[in-house]
Parts: sequence; structure tokens; C-alpha cells
Amino acid sequence: MPISFQNVSYIYNPKTPMEKRALSHINLEIAEGSFTAIVGRTGCGKSTLIQHLNALINPSEGLVLVDSFHNDANKKKRDKKMKPLRKSVGLVFQFPEYQLFDETVEKDVAFGPKNFGATKEEALEKAHAALAEVGLDESFYERSPFELSGGEKRRVAIAGILAMEPKYLVVDEPTAGLDPLGARDVMDLFKKVHEAGTTLILVTHDMDIVLSYCTDVIVLEHGEVAKVCKPADLFGEEVERYSLQTPFLYSFASRLSAKGYDIDAKELRDVSDLAKQIALRRNKK
Ligand SMILES: Nc1ncnc2c1ncn2[C@@H]1O[C@H](COP(=O)(O)OP(=O)(O)OP(=O)(O)O)[C@@H](O)[C@H]1O
Ligand SMILES: [Mg+2]
Repeated sequence: MPISFQNVSYIYNPKTPMEKRALSHINLEIAEGSFTAIVGRTGCGKSTLIQHLNALINPSEGLVLVDSFHNDANKKKRDKKMKPLRKSVGLVFQFPEYQLFDETVEKDVAFGPKNFGATKEEALEKAHAALAEVGLDESFYERSPFELSGGEKRRVAIAGILAMEPKYLVVDEPTAGLDPLGARDVMDLFKKVHEAGTTLILVTHDMDIVLSYCTDVIVLEHGEVAKVCKPADLFGEEVERYSLQTPFLYSFASRLSAKGYDIDAKELRDVSDLAKQIALRRNKK
């Protein structure tokens, strides 16, 4: 398995009065080519978990393997060369402010490819293409990333990671702060990137997105893995026990079922699936 967590625990501020255990004995595998969602209530450890993937943080206990890279609690066993890992795992932070640093949008987005060996021209070309993909045109190139709106900052942060063409794209609540159409555009962009062969790992609180876009879902609870399954298997159950919302389509389908329509919720991914089922039932009558 290209990504695996083996008995991983993480403690913030160990051996201080501020000590906080964020992850406990995580065992997980994430398949190459998947579009995996990581969900769970606020504070359950999602952001902490994904920051292990590019060794921004190191486990307090256990081992995270990303291809051949060892992010091991034991310093002696931990790989020291970060560059290949940072090229392979692109992580878009929950708060884009933490990611942006350069004086212009263009330079900020071109930094990654340049850092990984592209010439200045190639880096700019990749930056322009990535900015176009997130819907930011030339008028943004010379602007300071710090003077943008929250949603624009998020787009720049996403472009900066896309420009590096990572093998694994890890995004932490990428649609937070975007308007509904903007959120859909960004998700459709990730879908395209996934279809082109990138493995996607998405942290989100939006279960409609999980249902529409993801192949697999991992539920965390109090720093532990509560469930690993397909989205349809999660939403068929009592999702509220994990503090998750039932996707709109599932709520609608269950109301239709209550009115006598025979709907197979497991087959639903988007509105057109539901429309097809309704039409099929009606034509049968
Ligand atoms: N820098 C830090 N220092 C101390 N404790 C932290 C730190 N960052 C996170 N924590 C704690 O670790 C736990 C897990 O936090 P984390 O940010 O991983 O949760 P999350 O699932 O991403 O939450 P959210 O949905 O709100 O983003 C929480 O209890 C949090 O308070
Ligand atoms: Mg978080």
C-alpha cells in the first residue's frame, strides 16, 4: 500500500501542562488512485493526521509510510531527505494564510515548481496554468496574496500546490470560505485532477461532497479510526452518531421512500441518479 499508518499516535506539547493527545493508535491504509475523504467532528484529529503525510509533523509513536518514505516516531529510522516527499505529497492547508508567503501571486505559485528544479520560464508557465485552473486570471499575477479575499487566497494556495503536480494531493477543507459555485468549481477541478491519475485525500465537513466525489471515507472520532468504508455504506447508517450530516440526496430519498417510492439510496451519487430512479419507477407504473 503506498500510504499506511502503523500504530500512529500524536501528542501535542508532550510532558508539559498543555499536553494533548490528538491521535491514538491509528492503523490505516490509503489506496493509490483513490479519492479518500477524512471526516469527523471538530477536533477529532483530521488536520493532525494529514500533516503526517508530508512529515510536517512526526508521529509520537508508530510509523507513517508514504511509498518508500518513513516518517517514523524513532528519529534514527526516520528518512531525512524531505525533498522527494514534499514533491510527491502536496498539502493545501486548512488556513491558506499559513501557506502564502511571496510578494506576488505569480511568484508565490511559481515557487514550488522552481524549488523542484523547473527553470524560471517553466515555473511561470506552470503557475499560469494552475492559476487559470483555479479561475484566477492575469489580473491577479502582480497582486499581493495578502490583499486578497479569503476565497481568492484559498484558490492561490490550491494553485501553488497544483503547480507542483504532486502524486498525492491532500486538501484540508478546501471549500471552506468559497461561495457555492466556487466550491463546486474547485471540487470539479479536483475530480479532473483525480481522473488524470492523482490520488486525492480530502478533509471535509460536507457530506454532499463526500457522496458526490469520494471513493472511500475514513471517519475519525476522538483521535481514533471509527470507520473505514465506501460513502454509500456510511450514509446508509446512523451518521449522526459521528456528528455527521446526512447528505441532502439521502434525506430526500428517504422522504420519497416514506411516500411510497421505491428508491435504492445506495445507487445515488448526484441529483441525476435520483431523477433517473424516479423516472424509472414512474415509467414502470
Ligand atoms: N498546535 C496545537 N497545540 C495543541 N493542541 C492542538 C494543536 N493543534 C491541534 N490541537 C488539538 O488536537 C486535537 C486535534 O486537532 P485537529 O486540528 O487535528 O482537529 P480537526 O479534526 O482538524 O478539527 P477541525 O474540524 O476543527 O479542523 C484537538 O483537540 C486540538 O485542540
Ligand atoms: Mg482541521
